[in-house]
Amino acid sequence: MSTRIAIHHRPDSFSDRWAARCAELGVEHERVNCYDCDIMSRLASADALLWHFAHTIPEDTLVAASIVKAAETMGLVVFPNTASSWHFDDKVAQKYLLDAVGAPRIGTYVFLQRDKALEWIESAEFPKVFKLARGAGSANVRLVRTRDEAIALVKRAFGAGFKPIPGYLSDATTRYRQFRKRGGRILTKLRRLPGELRKAIVVNRLIGRERGYAYFQDFLPGNVFDTRVTVIGDRAFAFTRNVRSGDFRASGSGGLCYDLARIKPDAVRIAFEVARKIGAQSMAFDFLVAPDGRYLIGEVCYAYNAKAVYDCEGHWDSAMNWHPGHMWPEDAILEDLLESLKSRRG
Ligand SMILES: Nc1ncnc2c1ncn2[C@@H]1O[C@H](COP(=O)(O)OP(=O)(O)O)[C@@H](O)[C@H]1O
Ligand SMILES: [Mg+2]
Repeated sequence: MSTRIAIHHRPDSFSDRWAARCAELGVEHERVNCYDCDIMSRLASADALLWHFAHTIPEDTLVAASIVKAAETMGLVVFPNTASSWHFDDKVAQKYLLDAVGAPRIGTYVFLQRDKALEWIESAEFPKVFKLARGAGSANVRLVRTRDEAIALVKRAFGAGFKPIPGYLSDATTRYRQFRKRGGRILTKLRRLPGELRKAIVVNRLIGRERGYAYFQDFLPGNVFDTRVTVIGDRAFAFTRNVRSGDFRASGSGGLCYDLARIKPDAVRIAFEVARKIGAQSMAFDFLVAPDGRYLIGEVCYAYNAKAVYDCEGHWDSAMNWHPGHMWPEDAILEDLLESLKSRRG
């Protein structure tokens, strides 16, 4: 019996390579559109669904979790499965998740009531880090130096709220540096600017404001880079990301470093163990080091920049053996998916 894999296509996402790899392997696959009203009946004849959904696409934020769950209910193998993705782009959910599996995480304080948050601020020590539940590339992460700043943020969190997609001109220096590194042409970029601005406005309107909660973390000082460990099945890929100059934030800085001397086995071991407890097919972990030297998880995510993972010179397995060679994460995901389809058939 042949295997049929349904792939939701989004240009410049994991789906490009999934489709190409299926073709290389001779695996029957079909493009589906998860936004279609009849998507579930289309999936009825498939064995698996692959969908790299994104946090910046309003359609995805609205229906991806439901479609994944519904497809699982229908008996499909899905990537990402619910275990890997119910907490995607939701740092509040991740706090509960990491607590549930007893993972070593950065001290995190979530308040759903304004008064409780204000009461906590009275005795909290500063600086702290304030985050929105949504967001990537450090866009919604800021340092809170004083009690007054924290009070103002809490009032806003339970009042007007925050836009989840920051203005296109925010973090402009980093964007400009990355753009130059890629050999970008300034005129082309400027021409695209109105479109990008329009897109941010539309997405913010559709997704709605972030409010009704306040999220703080202990500030871990002195981390000049964070450690990104990406687990896919029995493989762990790792690299580090330098913080922006004059800033404490690494994510989105573009300063990737593949020096293996920077990767401590502890981070890899913790990532494997936590991914296993979560039941995640794929999980990227952001690690920071606490003042006492412990590796602590800041956030987790089922999806990531594929090229950054591919550029790792090899990966570890869960017995900590090193396997040299580059690998596209999409290939690893597909390999595991085909394997689970095979073992399901017996
Ligand atoms: N509690 C913290 N203490 C110190 N630095 C932090 C802390 N949390 C995050 N950072 C830094 O900020 C960056 C962005 O934070 P993160 O929570 O990973 O948000 P994002 O979802 O935008 O990647 C991290 O890569 C890390 O360098
Ligand atoms: Mg991060």
